[in-house]
Amino acid sequence: MATPLSLLQVDTPVSVFGWVRTARLAKKDTLLFVEIDDGTATVQCIVRGVDAALKTISATGSGVVFSGMLVTAPDAASQDVEFRVAKVLHVGACPPEIYPLPKSSRDPMTLVNLRAIPHLRLRDSRLALAQRVRSRLTLATHMFFQDRQFLQAHTPIITTSDCEGAGEMFRIAKVNGDREFFGEPAYLTVSGQLEGEQMAIGGGMGRVYTFGPTFRAEDSHTSRHLSEFWMIEPEWGCVNGIAELADMAEAYVRACARAVADLDGVDAGIIESIDTPFMRITYTEAIVLLATAHAETPRGDAPIWGVDLSSDQERWLVAHHGGVPLVVTGYPKEIKSFYMKVDAADPRTVQAMDVLVPGIGELIGGSVREDGLDVLATRMTDCGLDKAQYTSYLDTRRFGSIPHCGFGLGFERLVMLLTGLSNIRDVVPFPRCPGHAS
Ligand code: 4AD
Ligand code: MG
Repeated sequence: MATPLSLLQVDTPVSVFGWVRTARLAKKDTLLFVEIDDGTATVQCIVRGVDAALKTISATGSGVVFSGMLVTAPDAASQDVEFRVAKVLHVGACPPEIYPLPKSSRDPMTLVNLRAIPHLRLRDSRLALAQRVRSRLTLATHMFFQDRQFLQAHTPIITTSDCEGAGEMFRIAKVNGDREFFGEPAYLTVSGQLEGEQMAIGGGMGRVYTFGPTFRAEDSHTSRHLSEFWMIEPEWGCVNGIAELADMAEAYVRACARAVADLDGVDAGIIESIDTPFMRITYTEAIVLLATAHAETPRGDAPIWGVDLSSDQERWLVAHHGGVPLVVTGYPKEIKSFYMKVDAADPRTVQAMDVLVPGIGELIGGSVREDGLDVLATRMTDCGLDKAQYTSYLDTRRFGSIPHCGFGLGFERLVMLLTGLSNIRDVVPFPRCPGHAS
């Protein structure tokens, strides 16, 4: 098996593979300095005793397999180590006339142009980093929750109920089918929460988390929305309400930041801001701050209590708090989902929380859940939901309901935050958004 370039050890003969970043022929074409990358690291290789194959190797983008070993470089060399090639085992040619990526990393393609070649664009180091961060965060997520005794829940992708009640769902139908395949209209899930609650509370598992694909049919052409994205949704029995919810969200985001802190290219500044205690304000306080700022310098619509925060306002609030993540609690009941528990101290509001982060706005949305059967049923009626669709969900409140809470974190937004990539289409290899699914 080939050794990953990131695991090479000095003076140990191995085989490696990679794709050529840059190459330079020297000594009358008898020596080739070639930088290769295998997705784990970039290493400078030296090939001697040149033959015709070396010309092919020197083309940016060529795929190569070498045997050889890492050695300490002579003093004059610009790097500490280099890989001395003993044998060229394979060369996969890459025709320079039609290869779309640039020859030098000093002259990178724009991220927008790279989107036209999703199958090749991960050769760009900025986008490769995003995939590495994604993979690390996946592991960090499982470790964070499993360390706290949460079970991973595999909730269904095909569903018949709309968790968020916003109707922004994709309908599923059999191609050329002449009847409702599932006996009733079925959709792609917008959230695993309702099933998560049924497993945690109805099923008595106590603490579960989902980590799966999520679909939204919002016609949003923004840098923060995808039609298909991944969401992490923990759900657990709680004793300290909204404070417990916010603490868990903060600890989770911090664990994720620490898990990628050592990766080259991850912004140290953002890691530091996530390592700082998150700021916490109420929605009402946020509106006051926004209104004061608006009175001084009007920008966009005037903030009104009862209207959801725009992402522009969310980003302003984070910047106003020094660029540290901001937890906003106590949103008006009318702009939030039916399952959120009304705050007895201020019944106009629910015990909901959004975590806002620099440059993006909302990263997490969550709440304490309404655990009373009658209150929940009334809330559903008020929100115009058909209770017949939610019988098993309501059963969780009928048979031994306990106080519980949960949140949902948009995984791609977390990757954006930690890589500094400002468009969500650059942190998934094959983004799906309105007008694009191929
Ligand atoms: O705020 P949302 O809609 O909350 C829920 O779905 C709840 N059921 C979560 C829960 O309490 N279990 O979505 C949660 C997060 C958002 O904060 C955002 O980060 C992300 O999911 N998100 C999207 N990410 C990318 N593209 C979209 N279209 C997204 N919609 C939501
Ligand atoms: Mg939300």
